[in-house]
Amino acid sequence: MNSQAELIAIVNQYIEKMQYNPQPEGLYAPIKYVLSLGGKRIRPVLMLMAYNLYKDDIQTIMPNAIALETYHNFTLLHDDLMDKADMRRGNPTVHKKWDENTAILSGDAMLIIAYQLFSENQKAGTNLIKAMQTFNEATLGVCDGQQYDVEFESRNDVKEEEYMEMIRLKTSLLLACALKIGAQLAGADEEDCNNLYLFGEKMGLAFQLQDDLLDVYGNPAVFGKKIGGDILCNKKTFMLINALNIATGEDKAQLESWIRKKEYNPQEKIQAVTTIYDKVGIKSICQQKIEEIFEQSLQYLGKVKVEESKKEGLKLFANNLLKRNK
Ligand code: IPE
Ligand code: IPE
Ligand code: MG
Ligand code: MG
Ligand code: MG
Repeated sequence: MNSQAELIAIVNQYIEKMQYNPQPEGLYAPIKYVLSLGGKRIRPVLMLMAYNLYKDDIQTIMPNAIALETYHNFTLLHDDLMDKADMRRGNPTVHKKWDENTAILSGDAMLIIAYQLFSENQKAGTNLIKAMQTFNEATLGVCDGQQYDVEFESRNDVKEEEYMEMIRLKTSLLLACALKIGAQLAGADEEDCNNLYLFGEKMGLAFQLQDDLLDVYGNPAVFGKKIGGDILCNKKTFMLINALNIATGEDKAQLESWIRKKEYNPQEKIQAVTTIYDKVGIKSICQQKIEEIFEQSLQYLGKVKVEESKKEGLKLFANNLLKRNK
């Protein structure tokens, strides 16, 4: 059984050694670029940890773990275009460093590379088809979630439940599928696979709530993304939905007016919305929600039928994720 730090190192080594076609350079250089910028490698590590609950030979499923990380990085290229984000992992996003067409096409190529890695792993054995189904459901679901995310930008009546379902799709599904695929490839029974999936699904909700919180309250030097991006896009986050419900009088009117405004100074909008968030105490409301969901996630891990000592790594992982600042 490997520690989290060992697994991250193994994932990074594998990514460093990956070979792409040398030409056209303009297609593959951005792929190498984004994958070399690091990132927390949460999804491949989760897959390997789930596999590790049952088996030790993690090299057998490395292509599947790297496929998931490649898919995740593909979504980032397109997500940054959709969110007009110019910073990622402390560096310029691909569409800023190159251009928008590059982010589209290099992203497309990454999606295909992810599928190649996943489906062509000869060592994965007879469970590969089942795992592939899990992968397909999750990756299509991410598109559903991203579509809702964008549609919600121009709606002002988004309910908290709709937000939770949107983040379940765009974010939780990948964490959930990482764990389930790891277990499926190790030959775990269906009950364990499903409980690990539910553990990841809940953890993913807490994870995205935290990401949204850091988008407002994070330290940009550590977070690696620009602060306030969600506020500028009118993203209907848990914080905005609840602030709109809680704020009254002048605060509510101000918040609504900033959402409607077409022309504004970006820093001024971020500042004004954050001030209202502070007034209504949205940070601690959001933190409470994160902890509540996190507790629920652990219940599913508790149901997995392996020795408790083997689950320590995943518990620690989830705890660290909750305390993160990037
Ligand atoms: C970013 O994912 C997209 C979200 C789902 C919030 P991560 O926060 O896992 O990004 P990296 O890979 O560590 O950069
Ligand atoms: C990310 O949501 C979900 C996907 C990339 C599929 P965000 O848009 O919040 O992610 P960041 O903040 O840009 O990493
Ligand atoms: Mg984004
Ligand atoms: Mg987004
Ligand atoms: Mg975000």
